Amino acid sequence: MHCVKRISDDLTWVGANDRRLAMFEGVYSVPDGVSYNSYLLTDEKTVLFDTVDKAVRERFLENVSFVLGGRALDYIVVQHVEPDHSAALFDLTLIYPDIKIICSGKTLALLEQFFDFDIRSRAHIVSEGDTFNTGAHELHFVMAPMVHWPEVMVTYDSKSKTLFSADAFGSFGALNGALFADEVDYERDYMDEARRYYANIVGKYGTQTEAVLDKINGLEVETICPLHGFVWRRDLNTIISKYRLWGSYVPEEYGVMIVYASVYGHTENTAEILSSKLRDKGLKTTMFDVSVTPASNIVAQAFRWSHIVLASTTYNAGIFVSMEALIHDLTAHNIQNRTVAIIENGSWAPTSGGLIREKMETCKNINILDAGISLKSSLKAPQMENIERMVDSIMDSLPNSAKPSAQAVPDAAATAIDPTTVFKLSYGLFVLTAKDGEKDNGCIINTVTQITSNPLRISLAAIQANYTHDMIMKTGEFNVSILSESVPFSTFQRFGFQSGRDVDKFAGYGLEARTNNGIRYIPQNVNGVLSGKVIDSYDYGTHTIFVADVTQAITLSSEKSVTYQYYFDNIKPKPQPPKEDKKGYVCKICGYVYEGEPLPDDFVCPICKHGAADFEKL
Ligand code: FEO
Repeated sequence: MHCVKRISDDLTWVGANDRRLAMFEGVYSVPDGVSYNSYLLTDEKTVLFDTVDKAVRERFLENVSFVLGGRALDYIVVQHVEPDHSAALFDLTLIYPDIKIICSGKTLALLEQFFDFDIRSRAHIVSEGDTFNTGAHELHFVMAPMVHWPEVMVTYDSKSKTLFSADAFGSFGALNGALFADEVDYERDYMDEARRYYANIVGKYGTQTEAVLDKINGLEVETICPLHGFVWRRDLNTIISKYRLWGSYVPEEYGVMIVYASVYGHTENTAEILSSKLRDKGLKTTMFDVSVTPASNIVAQAFRWSHIVLASTTYNAGIFVSMEALIHDLTAHNIQNRTVAIIENGSWAPTSGGLIREKMETCKNINILDAGISLKSSLKAPQMENIERMVDSIMDSLPNSAKPSAQAVPDAAATAIDPTTVFKLSYGLFVLTAKDGEKDNGCIINTVTQITSNPLRISLAAIQANYTHDMIMKTGEFNVSILSESVPFSTFQRFGFQSGRDVDKFAGYGLEARTNNGIRYIPQNVNGVLSGKVIDSYDYGTHTIFVADVTQAITLSSEKSVTYQYYFDNIKPKPQPPKEDKKGYVCKICGYVYEGEPLPDDFVCPICKHGAADFEKL
């Protein structure tokens, strides 16, 4: 009997779940099963996106037949040839003999390697940027090589704003009756499996992942349909922001993953003591016995944490076998941008530490701490000093912003004004737009407050150096677009990193939308718009406070408003380790890097608006 899930009036999930599979690709355990997703669009033309693994072929064919309801299947888009998504292709040609196969040239070549039926005569070859009209929908094809195989492409339906994302944004785990990520507690129950899926299946290809993210950044995406795991229709930034971090090998969190290989428990004991002392300092730690926890879980956690401690006994004059296999996995998956500390053990000839160092040094941007520990069989009291030194070294390697705050009650008198206290205030983020004649402009601000509700009045602070500020001074009118959590970093780049005096900030933006006052607003990744008419203004040197009556207020979505903190945690790319020859200054407040020498005295950070005094040399 069929088992399908509706996504919209004409798009249906026709995939299936597999909970009998022990090892995905023969390597990765899937204790919670896996879903093979396939989607059927029933427009004027009927179009299927990919098929499923042979294990669930029967259910899938029944699903397709049910949704078609007697219609023929006109097209199948093959986005990914890997057999867990193409195994039922031949069956479809037998059931729907006139079916055409939409695919790239690379896909065709790979399909011909895997199958023995005539594919070429059915093929409709597409390339980057090609489109295909299905009636009411228009499909746009975007190549996504190496995410996860070279032929992969993703497809964007510009009518429904749906991205069929192939392997990207997928996850291990069967769907268990739900289809949408917002139907489950994704962060709690599925993010670990999404990370494990990404790190192990696609993790090696971070550059290619970032390239695809850049391509889809320009698309207005409301729904993501991956080939495994849940469909995303809300809070898309939850998964997109993770992919940004994973693709760029930027750690999600500051903290230490301690992995140990211990035959008789002495290396484990040292690892436990280290972990305990790091916890005493307030740093998060997690621990794995490499002989017990599957390597795919540890590789995934390596993509999460900023610091990795590798502790291994010496075995056959080398690294302990399970640790050696893990290190091979870590390097094969291109792990980089991490701080690593090493503990070795060896009762008569400890060599594992040096060998681990050699292997980890082959990875990019790995900072191996000098404070290593060498044990001879077991930790002795004098070596507690070495543990303390490793703890200090790990703590010192954290940026100031990540150092756990001291637990002691501060001396209030000694800290009359701590300049960082104001950062504890909560802020939203907004695009402030104005219009002067034919010229539209906008900038990012973080201070908009409701003053009264009757009449409805708001205030905002705008930097006097900003062009938008001058427009408001002249015209007395503005719009505030309230950014929501799905807002991509590119919105901040467009409206915050350049001046409207030099460029047209709306150039290439499209999506022209105006309120009754004729001023543009931002219709995307925004949950509301307020139009203001200035009734008063106050000059505070660097900033002007405008007080305004609200003349129009429009609610655009129910998505949560983005906060300054959310922006830092989830949207703003984490600062990359500076290249050695890079000259410039980094903002101590938000991490923005100004490249060049010297930093102008009047420079204002385009992100957090702090001045040159808050920058330090790289
Ligand atoms: Fe699920 Fe790369 O395939």
